[in-house]
Amino acid sequence: MPSPIKIFRVANKKWPMYGLAVTGIEKMNTDGVDKGKRRFLLAASSVAGGIAVAGTATPFVLSMLPSQRALAAGAPVEVDISKIEPGSYVTVAWRGKPVWVTYRTQAMLEQLPKNDPLLRDPNSNESTQPDYCKNEYRSIKPQYLVHVNICTHLGCAPLLKKQVGDPSLGASWPGGFFCPCHGSRYDMSVRVFKDVPAPLNMVIPPYVYKTDSRIIIGQDNIHS
Ligand code: FES
Repeated sequence: MPSPIKIFRVANKKWPMYGLAVTGIEKMNTDGVDKGKRRFLLAASSVAGGIAVAGTATPFVLSMLPSQRALAAGAPVEVDISKIEPGSYVTVAWRGKPVWVTYRTQAMLEQLPKNDPLLRDPNSNESTQPDYCKNEYRSIKPQYLVHVNICTHLGCAPLLKKQVGDPSLGASWPGGFFCPCHGSRYDMSVRVFKDVPAPLNMVIPPYVYKTDSRIIIGQDNIHS
């Protein structure tokens, strides 16, 4: 098994940025929902080689050795999920993409089946996810959603809008994710609603539970 690497988020007013802590330093973002009003361009992140997911490369990143860059491009990422509060999330970078781990409440889970008639692909037949996440929750354990937070329309970063009936989205809003770029909407399993620009549900990456409190993103050999 490749050695997991640690990821930390770098505070930046304009873009969310991430670095690889090759010495094992890790910092997770649990600071709420609406600080994420920044765009994330898929193409830009992909060519970043899995190191800096957005914005300008930092001196830290530039100083990395090629072998470390190669490691960053494809290595699994281990995440401690024990500190995530219900209704909150952490963000890590995996292969240059922002992966969110969201702790869904029981109320959020109970809402999911009710959304099915409103969704474009409620059974995730067209979207990308591991077979073991092709279910109502799109996850291994119902409460923890792990997804690549990139809108399937043009690659912006959707915002978590977990409040049912959020005033900005209308009284019928059931809670989920909203992409401010062109108005695409997703439920709390990141399944896309009908009549929005995004064509597909957001992507679920491969992952595995190392323990009850730690997951490894980018590795699923236990399930294969
Ligand atoms: S990029 Fe999300 S709606 Fe267009």
